[in-house]
Amino acid sequence: MTAGQADALQRLWPKWGLDIDGQRVIDLTELFGNAGPVVLEIGFGMGEATARMAAADPDTNILAVDVHTPGQGNLLNLADQSGLTNIRVGNGDAIILLREMLSPDSLDGLRVYFPDPWPKKRHHKRRLIQPAFLTLAATRLRPGAIVHCATDWEPYAEQMLEVLTTHPAFENTQPDGGFAPRPGFRPLTRFEGQGLDKGHVVNDLLFRRVQHEQHPAEHAQHEEHHQQDHDQSSTGA
Ligand SMILES: C[S@@+](CC[C@H](N)C(=O)[O-])C[C@H]1O[C@@H](n2cnc3c(N)ncnc32)[C@H](O)[C@@H]1O
Repeated sequence: MTAGQADALQRLWPKWGLDIDGQRVIDLTELFGNAGPVVLEIGFGMGEATARMAAADPDTNILAVDVHTPGQGNLLNLADQSGLTNIRVGNGDAIILLREMLSPDSLDGLRVYFPDPWPKKRHHKRRLIQPAFLTLAATRLRPGAIVHCATDWEPYAEQMLEVLTTHPAFENTQPDGGFAPRPGFRPLTRFEGQGLDKGHVVNDLLFRRVQHEQHPAEHAQHEEHHQQDHDQSSTGA
């Protein structure tokens, strides 16, 4: 860790840091000091792309989480130097954050750019984008929220496309059901640059959280209430 990163952690963590300790559910309005939309970015690395996206869209709050401490210091420094107030930095495992610290329907988006590809077959189970992860993330995402993934590892891109396509909580924003053209709002990331230097192909995926599925019992209850309301209004009650 550089002296600048260590200094940023010391100075800015009390103001913009979030300890991922799994001990409490956080109030995002309180964390950001406003009730604006919140997008979670998992694995921001050194945070250059995060800072650029935050600067380009100041009305969106970015909750950026990574386990890598020098990167946390770097992103805090970038936010400070650029006068950004819409970034909060979490230090730890995004799964714990999602499972223990975020409320249902609290997120307006999820970004996962160049997650560790784990190329060896015996390590595939360590990949982040898996059905169980998506099921957890879906509970924290509002209907309409966009999940944006990108990777330069083509077998992982295929896996992402398959698990997102088959998951009932998400639908592809692309009419052809395939990868998305790289959106102009996503800057080149550090890891992406390294992949491109090696001749890798980059794929983006943009999926939408669908409306909450209604269980048959809830549906019947809803219909019953609806019928009662109708009966009452038609009798003038
Ligand atoms: C390959 S790097 C990509 C970094 C950056 N997005 C980029 O494109 O340059 C993946 C990052 O994900 C972080 N990471 C992996 N698993 C994580 C988890 N469960 N929670 C939070 N961060 C995680 C790693 O520490 C690493 O910084």
